[in-house]
Amino acid sequence: MNLDEQFKNETDKLGLDIIEILFKNEKKGRITALAKQNETKLILKWNLSCKSLHIAKLKKEISYYREHQGENHIVPLSYAAENILVIEYFKGVSLRKWLESYLDEQKTGTTDLVKQSFSNCVTSLLKSLKMMYKEPLDKKAEFNEMAYQLCKRFRQVCCFKPLNGAYQSKFETKFCRWIYRIFRSLARTKIHHIVKKINTNDLYIIHGDLHLNNILIGLESNEAKIIDFEDVEPGFVLLDIIYLYSLFYYLLTGLPNHQLILRECFSGFIADNFPELNNSFFELANIFQIGLSINRSVGYNISAFRLLKNLCFFPIKLLFTKSHCIHK
Ligand SMILES: Nc1ncnc2c1ncn2[C@@H]1O[C@H](COP(=O)(O)OP(=O)(O)O)[C@@H](O)[C@H]1O
Ligand SMILES: [Mg+2]
Repeated sequence: MNLDEQFKNETDKLGLDIIEILFKNEKKGRITALAKQNETKLILKWNLSCKSLHIAKLKKEISYYREHQGENHIVPLSYAAENILVIEYFKGVSLRKWLESYLDEQKTGTTDLVKQSFSNCVTSLLKSLKMMYKEPLDKKAEFNEMAYQLCKRFRQVCCFKPLNGAYQSKFETKFCRWIYRIFRSLARTKIHHIVKKINTNDLYIIHGDLHLNNILIGLESNEAKIIDFEDVEPGFVLLDIIYLYSLFYYLLTGLPNHQLILRECFSGFIADNFPELNNSFFELANIFQIGLSINRSVGYNISAFRLLKNLCFFPIKLLFTKSHCIHK
């Protein structure tokens, strides 16, 4: 029986009408779909039972939904079993899509004028984050592990390889790789240095993959819901919020007023909830912005020329970042 047939078999048994397949991965044996049951729209994530690694991830997500039922930062759980998670459909779009259409509107209007909807969106995002990191766990984090995880995340945001994997020339490949190595090792040293100055090692349950597509913004309410808890784990909050903030901030390139609002909102959020992280957060944010400027997959298709220019200049920039100088 192929993937589709097994999927149909199991969802038929549950009385679910599949409206649309949103995502299918044969290798992982995974299907995400929009479904309907008695006029109620639902989202279901299903995995072939034999794919143990992916089933383990889905199980983690299911337990998160079970443990946090009724909390406002997630959508309500509707049904869960060994290899299927069914949650209520939330009428909204991903934060990424929301921002893209907001920015499109902005271009046709007065460019950098911050609209109320933007501030509302950031406020509800932070409200949901606050709910997610309610209280620290009893365990503490290892500083070395924190630095290691941050470096890993950094490598993820500054991967300069083009999305399709094809470089435009041999020179580009060799030269970029060479500078990239210097750049990465400088960043690693900086990150270790910053982590040494942090004087808290509280562990929280963190999301683990908090990017702009794993946040939904309500179309009517501007409410923010967090989804996709397959990578939840006890971890260091900085890891989640630095990733999210950096991707968000980078999308607002060329809109200084918007960046300012975002920075102020996050600064307030950190001061209220994680005051010990204030300086390190913005120092790391600078480094992540530098990293993002050579990333070719985050929506800005930078040319080979700009990539080379950024790669050459950024080791220098990186050396001179300071904690108080928030990236503009
Ligand atoms: N409750 C929901 N309401 C509406 N759309 C959703 C909901 N949950 C997920 N989606 C949509 O399905 C997509 C994939 O869901 P996600 O949980 O992130 O799975 P994946 O592991 O495939 O990334 C999301 O980007 C979002 O567009
Ligand atoms: Mg996702």
